[in-house]
Amino acid sequence: MEQINTIRTQALECVSKAQTLSELNDARVRYLGKKGEIQALMKEMKSLPKEEKPAFGAAVNELKQEVSQVIEERKIELEELEMNKKIENEKIDISLPGRQFKLGNKHPLRIVQEELEDLFVGLGYQVIEGNDIVNDEYCFERANIPKDHPARAMQDSLYIDPEWLLRTHTTAIQMAVLEESAPKLPIKVVCPGKVYRRDDDDATHSHQFMQMEGLVIAEKVTLADLKGTLEFMAKKLFGEDKKIRFRPSYFPFTEPSVEVDVTCHICNGKGCPTCKGTGWIEILGAGEVHPNVLKMAGYDPEKCNGFAFGVGIERVAMLKYGIDDIRHFYTNDQRFNDQFKRYE
Ligand code: DAH
Repeated sequence: MEQINTIRTQALECVSKAQTLSELNDARVRYLGKKGEIQALMKEMKSLPKEEKPAFGAAVNELKQEVSQVIEERKIELEELEMNKKIENEKIDISLPGRQFKLGNKHPLRIVQEELEDLFVGLGYQVIEGNDIVNDEYCFERANIPKDHPARAMQDSLYIDPEWLLRTHTTAIQMAVLEESAPKLPIKVVCPGKVYRRDDDDATHSHQFMQMEGLVIAEKVTLADLKGTLEFMAKKLFGEDKKIRFRPSYFPFTEPSVEVDVTCHICNGKGCPTCKGTGWIEILGAGEVHPNVLKMAGYDPEKCNGFAFGVGIERVAMLKYGIDDIRHFYTNDQRFNDQFKRYE
């Protein structure tokens, strides 16, 4: 009986000292396991006199139950303790400053391109893109610029072979659209894209830049339609107070041809260094599509006509945002690009 009491004291102490579930499990094995101390007591029963056996057996059983119970209770305590420890360790410190994710923004040329597309889509135009590599026929011949034409020299370009080159103007897309559409009417498209020319790179020139071509072909389209369209565009781009004016010009693919100016955004028409004192700033070339161009594409110039224009996207962006050097667009300086987030 004394031995039972010793084991009881030890077992209870051992269980209450267990600080983890695994220590508790060690205690369980030590006292309740098959080779444990309580089991060993049971074996000793054999050597006892018969009359002592029942009392001893009952006491060992009682001990076994008692130890089982305290182990169970301690187990619940320890589980709770371990859970709390885990929660404590996983606690998120919400006072820590978060990591900054830098969100990019659209490039200014993309912003202007999309603005132009949006305003023309609003007028019922379709947006059509073409290939950067075109052949001589679509870049020049169909634009009424034959092989010996001096206008070729102005756009003397980047040839891949004598037949294929990087398009020098989006007018090449215009020619492809005309041919694909003929003889359907009307055509109303804008064609944005990169263009390439052998050109000196300076503050206002680049060997690669962007244009957007406009083309409308229907019955009885007049220069007044062109003017109304371009005035609408200028007002949307530069402000409702702006006006445009036409100056006579020359392009092989239009007749008559015009150069289009918009009220200077710096002096609002009074005259300043930016507009060289004229009050006007040139923004694009345009005109009535030349009958030869229509004929080559499969249209009858007696039955339809139309207008075309080609606007430089860099030029619009430079005027709109007051950018003084075209090269800023291409150097990918994040400090430059970041400034256009608010215009998206
Ligand atoms: N293709 C001309 C250029 O690159 C721009 C242009 C002028 C396009 C007049 C046109 C137009 O469609 O009618 O300089």
